[in-house]
Amino acid sequence: MNEIYTLHVNGEPRDVRDASAGESLLYVLRERLGLMGSKGACEQGECGSCSVMIDDQLVCGCLVLAAGAVGQRIVTIEGIAPVGAPSDVQQAFVDAGAVQCGFCTPGLIMATHSLLERSPSPSEMEIREELSGNVCRCTGYGRIIDAVQRVAVARRGVS
Ligand code: FES
Ligand code: FES
Repeated sequence: MNEIYTLHVNGEPRDVRDASAGESLLYVLRERLGLMGSKGACEQGECGSCSVMIDDQLVCGCLVLAAGAVGQRIVTIEGIAPVGAPSDVQQAFVDAGAVQCGFCTPGLIMATHSLLERSPSPSEMEIREELSGNVCRCTGYGRIIDAVQRVAVARRGVS
């Protein structure tokens, strides 16, 4: 059975055509809407590379049915900042040398945005726990934690 429905993605309505009911949000974002920033690594909810926000909650896009997200606010890595104007989190990852590969970094950025929305001054333990769902075997997470802490400090400085 094919369906036509509308998702609300990054502030815009996006029609999804010729989709099957069982397609994941990750699949629809990438393959039907051309939003390639969210990555599919494990596609089993284990790695966090597909992290997106739905109604301000961080979720694994590979575990969510796209058709089930109708009527909810979806934000992807493409929607957190304008092109050419990185968010403070993205800039901090660059400044701290925390950018990893193209698979894990988008999810780490999304998870950091989510964490700092809920906890503006997270402890190192809290950061490690929050990012534990974003798996990268290639880092000790030290620079990533540094990046998160830089954003927290900077935001406190301007508030
Ligand atoms: S691709 Fe979704 S958690 Fe790994
Ligand atoms: S998985 Fe991206 S650098 Fe390790």
